[in-house]
Order: sequence, then C-alpha cells, then structure tokens
Amino acid sequence: MKELLNSCVGRKMLVAVSGQFMVLFIIVHVLGNSTIFFGGLNAYAEKLHSLPLLVWKTRIFMSIILAVHVFFSIQITLENWKSKPANYAVTKNLRSTFASRTMIWTGALIGTFLVFHLLHFTFQIINPSFAASANMDALGTPDVTLMVISGLQHFVSSFIYIAAMIALALHLFHGIQSSFQTLGLNSERTMSFITKTGSVAAIILFLGYIAIPVIILLGLLKG
Ligand code: HEM
Repeated sequence: MKELLNSCVGRKMLVAVSGQFMVLFIIVHVLGNSTIFFGGLNAYAEKLHSLPLLVWKTRIFMSIILAVHVFFSIQITLENWKSKPANYAVTKNLRSTFASRTMIWTGALIGTFLVFHLLHFTFQIINPSFAASANMDALGTPDVTLMVISGLQHFVSSFIYIAAMIALALHLFHGIQSSFQTLGLNSERTMSFITKTGSVAAIILFLGYIAIPVIILLGLLKG
C-alpha cells in the first residue's frame, strides 16, 4: 500500500479506480432520476429510503471514494504543474484535448455543484417550502417529484444544473477512457474501442442528466 501511495503510477491508479466507482454511481443515479419521466420518482426514492443500511453503507463508501479521487487528483495535478510550467512547449501534447487539459477545473465545478446539490435535494434547505420531507403526495410518500420540478423551474437553479452537467460531460469524456488507459485495460487492438465507448458513454450520461432540467424548464414536466 505504501508503495502504491508513493509511486506516481500507483496514485494515478487510485484516481482511475475511484473514478470508475463514481461513474457506476452516476449511471445508477441517472437511471433512478429518469423514473421522474414515468411518474415513478417518489416510489423509487421511498424504496431507497426503506433500505437505510444499504443507503448508509453506499454513502460511507462513496464518501471515501470521493475523498481519494479528489485528494490524489489534486496532488497529481500540482506535481504536473511544478514539473511542466504552463508555457512550456512540451505541454502542447498532440493527444491533449480541451477535456483533458481542463480536468482539474471541470472536477472543481462538479465538486462545487455537489455541495449545492446536496443542500438542495438531500438536506433540502435551499427551497424549504418544496422540501420532499414537508410535502406528501396522494399516497403519503415524500414528494421528491414536486421538489425536483419546483427546484428546477427556477432559471438560476436550472442554469447551475445545466452548467454542471456540461462540466460533468467534459470530465467523463476524458476521464472514462483515461481511467482504462491508466489501469492498462487497453491494448493497441482495443484502444480505439475504449476511446469510442468512453465518449459515447459520456454523451449518453450527459443527455440523460441534462434532459431533466431542460424538460422542466420548457414546462413539459409539471408536478
Ligand atoms: C439533473 C440532474 C440531477 C437530478 C435531477 C438529481 C436528483 C437528485 C435527487 C432528487 C436526490 C435526492 C434523492 C433522495 O434522497 O430522495 C439526489 C441526491 C444525490 N445526488 Fe443527484 N441529481 C442530479 C445530478 C447529480 C449528479 C451529476 C451527481 C454527481 C456528480 C449527483 C449526486 C448526488 C448525490 C451524491 C446525492 C446524495 C445521495 C444520498 O442521499 O446519499 N446528482 N439527486
């Protein structure tokens, strides 16, 4: 373990593995969120909350994963900046893309969004009159649908979500393929497949997430 933490490759591997766990969370979360389009979000949230052990184990595990990802990615970025000043020609690597060069900034935007998002929908203190804990639906279930729709009907709120989803898409666009590369899960033969699949996955997740604020903002989904 000590060797893993002391080597640059080891730390990159930790960032890659933690990133892949977060992609799994992001896939499950968008599938859960999409139940809003079929009127099933309240039942889905109720089912989740009826499994507190699973919810808390996942929360603790994902908090550790997030901490590892943030800590080591900041450390690696700072080391890279020190060894390669920004104005060096060598930084203009042929394989560098806008998404790869901005990973630290898109990551910071997603982190900031996450704080806002938790205050909004988990702690429910940003728009308390529409908090799910304060409003029940006809079945007596906390009205998560009302909370999401009324929250995202505000232009400023939706704008924050849409901006964060753009940052998330860019982060995943580079991050998914890069994580496979770091873990050595790509060979000459599979490289182009992994790059394409990573890009397509990032686009699908982006569309899945952004659909919610856009459809609500257009008034096509009402509580
Ligand atoms: C349009 C986009 C999104 C919508 C509508 C949405 C919706 C929600 C809702 C309703 C909850 C509260 C669920 C409940 O407790 O009943 C929640 C929690 C959460 N969301 Fe999102 N979400 C979105 C995007 C994201 C993204 C992009 C991330 C990660 C980068 C994320 C991470 C989380 C986390 C970590 C929680 C807390 C889960 C817990 O309670 O343990 N969400 N989201």
